[in-house]
Order: sequence, then C-alpha cells, then structure tokens
Amino acid sequence: MLSKKIETALNDQIAKEAYASNYYLAMASWCEKSGLRGTASFMYEQSEEELEHMMKLLRYVNSTGGHGLVAEIPQPPNTFKSISHVIELALEHELAVTKSINKLVELCFNEKDYSSFNFLQWYVTEQHEEEHLFNSILDLIKITGTDGRGVYFIDNEIGKFREKEGAEKS
Ligand code: FEO
Repeated sequence: MLSKKIETALNDQIAKEAYASNYYLAMASWCEKSGLRGTASFMYEQSEEELEHMMKLLRYVNSTGGHGLVAEIPQPPNTFKSISHVIELALEHELAVTKSINKLVELCFNEKDYSSFNFLQWYVTEQHEEEHLFNSILDLIKITGTDGRGVYFIDNEIGKFREKEGAEKS
C-alpha cells in the first residue's frame, strides 16, 4: 500500500517520463527533418522507451493501491542547433532524471516503503545505462568532429548504437 507522499512522488515521476518521451520525440522529428536519419531513428526509439518507463510506473502505482495519473505535458523545444546539441541536451536531461530517481529512492527508503524502493532499482540501473549511452555517443563525436563527412559518419553510427549496446549486453 502506497502512502500519499510516495504516491504523489511516483506520479510526479510519471509526468517526468512522459515529458522525456515528448522531448525525445521532438528531437527525433527535428533530426528526421534535418536529414539525420540515423539519429532520428535512435531518438524515436528513446522516445518509445520513455513511454515504457512511464507506463511501468503508472501500472506499479495502480497495482499498489494508488492511482497513476496522466499529467499535462509542457511543450518541449522543437528546434535544435546540431546533432551534438541534440545529444548534449539528451544527456543533460538524463542527468536530471537520474537526480529525480535518486531522490525518489531516498524518499522510499526513509519512509520504509521497501516495495517501492525495490521497484525503483530497475530505474537506477536504467539511468546508469542511459547516461553511459549518451556519454559514449558524445565521446565519439569528440573524436570524429561534426563537420562535413563527420556528421554523416556520426549519424550513421548513432543509428547503429542500440544494436551495438544490445550485443554488448548479451
Ligand atoms: Fe526514463 Fe531516460 O529516463
């Protein structure tokens, strides 16, 4: 059974995951319109993943005696400066989400809600992976640069990044 305090905090996180999904969708759309097909496909998948994060939380709240709420989502930016701008902003966003998850974990521990504490460990792992993913892309951008052919190469590589990450995990 969730306390009101934890239920509210989890619902706040649901709203944040929904915003992340829309934010990444806006990035994907901008990339697609800018001819960056690899990055567009990568960010579309990131956007879908964030929706899954939202759903997982919402259903957890409902299955634990609370009410998972659908929040109003603020308008994300729709234009970006470059491929590296998109990835830098995505990493910045992931770092903010990690902070928010860590606060939530701390709250659950302090409130002795060990069920929610345990449930949130999945998000702790996920945040570690996502930070690593965006950091790896930024490392690659630093090596190759983003002028002319560099953009073409990076865009192609980003398009393949998920396959590689999957292969490393299995
Ligand atoms: Fe669900 Fe990438 O934070």
